[in-house]
Amino acid sequence: MEAVNTTVESYLVKHHREKRALIAILQDIQAEYNYLPREALETVAKSLNIPLIDVIGVATFYRAFSLKPRGRHLVTVCLGTACHVRGGPRILSEFEKRLAVEPGETTPDNQFTLETVACLGCCAIGPVVVVDGTYHAHTTMGKVDAILRRYTVKKKGKK
Ligand code: FES
Repeated sequence: MEAVNTTVESYLVKHHREKRALIAILQDIQAEYNYLPREALETVAKSLNIPLIDVIGVATFYRAFSLKPRGRHLVTVCLGTACHVRGGPRILSEFEKRLAVEPGETTPDNQFTLETVACLGCCAIGPVVVVDGTYHAHTTMGKVDAILRRYTVKKKGKK
């Protein structure tokens, strides 16, 4: 907890402890830990003199923030109407099978978090899967393995 507080303190100083910088501070914390640890939110709330419930409200409003630890790669499968009729649920099932997790869960090795979304606003290229912000258009069950391998290989290549 000490290390988290020290890191959070550095972000608070960077943003001059301004209340209007709350989102920017949370973005820095999210980037550092890949989620928003509870103790970090408590430190931010206390330091900015904002009720903790309000800080949590902001943290839960934006999809970019997560209150639970996320894996290194975020896989989001669209299940909006257009993607649904083009096979979105089958693609989700394939990701569930390959990763052995359900939506909202992270693989035990912390490499992948699986999520769903109701529509990404690009229905014409559905079914859509987004991995770490990269859109994969016209996804098929056959492409699932290649998508996952691409991110797994990247991880191995870095080390
Ligand atoms: S339904 Fe998937 S992008 Fe709109």
